[in-house]
Amino acid sequence: MGERQISQAVIRRLPRYYRYLGELLENGVERISSNELSKRMKVTASQIRQDLNNFGGFGQQGYGYNVKYLHSEIGKILGIDKSNHMVIIGAGNLGHALANYSAFEKRGFVLDGMFDVNPELVGMEVRGIPVQMIDELEPFLESHQIDIGVLTIPKSAVVEIANILVKHGVKAIWNFAHTDLNLPDDVIVENVHLSESLMRLSYNIARYKEEHNK
Ligand code: NAI
Repeated sequence: MGERQISQAVIRRLPRYYRYLGELLENGVERISSNELSKRMKVTASQIRQDLNNFGGFGQQGYGYNVKYLHSEIGKILGIDKSNHMVIIGAGNLGHALANYSAFEKRGFVLDGMFDVNPELVGMEVRGIPVQMIDELEPFLESHQIDIGVLTIPKSAVVEIANILVKHGVKAIWNFAHTDLNLPDDVIVENVHLSESLMRLSYNIARYKEEHNK
């Protein structure tokens, strides 16, 4: 695969392709045409062909896509054919929920540690991962290769913790706190805002009600 720049819009769609292809694989489907995939995913067939052509196209004219191959190639593009090691900072409600979600591991996201400031949480474990005190974070980062820092702490604490992670070579931050981070260019930040998703939902509910006079 070349070093072509792939648009962020295409990258955003890839996890969905990956998920559908994974389901097809589980159901024993070996080949699928762009038309069939289009019906299932409710995306136009031409969009699918265009998206997948970004990677040299994995389909054969009149023969469809090899589901297993396409699934594994998209996995490689997404980098989930390799393990990504994570630490969660903030072992509260959200930190616990994320740590409890074992399916991340199936995608190669391995949780190595959880940290918090609250001494009452010492001794607590989530799926075998102990909650450690935040002052143990720096030595931990020195002795572990961590790829992703997950921030599930109040926004007031985020800048300080993000800087510690970056100082110790963590190159990706999955930020749940509602604040924007100003980090060096080589650090990748993915902000997650469930409330924004809810607001989009609310907008669509309002539009639906308007259209249907409800
Ligand atoms: P929580 O209060 O249950 O958990 C926060 C945890 O962070 C607590 O255990 C606290 O002791 C710990 N903490 C505070 N300062 C710390 C520090 N300096 N180092 C390490 N740990 C520290 O809160 P919850 O509900 O889990 O939310 C966590 C964060 O995620 C909040 O900032 C909240 O606004 C945000 N959030 C974001 C969502 C999103 O969609 N992006 C959805 C829900 C929450």
